[in-house]
Amino acid sequence: MTDEIIDLFSDTATQPTRAMREAMLAAPLGDEQRRSDPTVQRLEERIAALLGKERAVLVPSATMANQIAIALHCSPGDEVLCHRSAHVLNAEGGGLAANAGVQVLPLAGERGIFDGDTVRAALRIDDPHQPISRAVVVENTSNGGGGSVWPDAAFQSVVAVCRERGLILHIDGARLFNAAVARGVSPAHWAQHGQSVQVCFSKGLGCAFGAVLALDAELEPRARRIKQRLGGALRQAGIVAAGMLYALDHHVQRLAEDHQRAARLAAALAELPGLEVSPSDTNIVFLRYLRGTAAELAQRLRERGVLVSQGGGRLRACTHLGITDQGLERAIQVFAQVLCGESAL
Ligand SMILES: Cc1ncc(COP(=O)(O)O)c(C=O)c1O
Repeated sequence: MTDEIIDLFSDTATQPTRAMREAMLAAPLGDEQRRSDPTVQRLEERIAALLGKERAVLVPSATMANQIAIALHCSPGDEVLCHRSAHVLNAEGGGLAANAGVQVLPLAGERGIFDGDTVRAALRIDDPHQPISRAVVVENTSNGGGGSVWPDAAFQSVVAVCRERGLILHIDGARLFNAAVARGVSPAHWAQHGQSVQVCFSKGLGCAFGAVLALDAELEPRARRIKQRLGGALRQAGIVAAGMLYALDHHVQRLAEDHQRAARLAAALAELPGLEVSPSDTNIVFLRYLRGTAAELAQRLRERGVLVSQGGGRLRACTHLGITDQGLERAIQVFAQVLCGESAL
């Protein structure tokens, strides 16, 4: 291992900056569980307005936000439709079954994206043998899809089927700010069409933790009850909310820099032998190693101080607040060294 670690493993690696920590120190605090923390209230009002929803509820994590949303919308035995790469299906510990008693119908589609026709074809008929198709989850950006941003045509066709067939739409917007910055639109562009939407602050935005679930006012009391039940109601949470408010002001627009660096990384890696590089809309670059296993390449990169994640035969590199131009160029050099031999350095 070298001393200098370039951590492309995940955009969850971001840490609060000094200025964010100072904003956190200065925040007025109260008891969030009793709804008397002024900083949390300020954050919730701001996020609701930003997403075009009536209410917003602070929760500790994006996972909890998704879990609350599905438990809120569904009854045990219902069916939830989502892409087969979705975080709710693959990375929440089986929570949809355990917490909401629902089953999941995975949908196919390129880069984590499906369309209204795919949803329509998967819907159950009204028959006691079948589960009730209740909700659709759209993940934007799609993590497993390579940070892909939902195109309007696909998204609007899903919205239309949901309206037509009375399905609930939940948006897993753990990286919705990335999508908004990449497309140059407000996050409300998508969020206003879902009955619920969550945004997460512990991905590229530098916060230690914190996500917000935004929804219609009539859903808020039940959402807060489920949050309490799951142990998500907090006390002096304003200290975290202050960091999240800071991130809204200082770390959202700069996501464009992460996207530029991911594009630079993808272009540079595409020049190297033995790699297949998937296109990236935002900050996530997926790779296939054609001369060995993904685990082998990840290990060889790790030995030289570059961390990437791997799984399902692919490697994933994420750019984020903690990755500078210099660090990125160093990572590209290390890839070249590993794939072309020492002479590449
Ligand atoms: C799309 C998506 N949703 C939800 C989550 C859950 O976030 P957390 O692990 O912070 O709860 C993640 C985490 O990477 C994610 O990528």
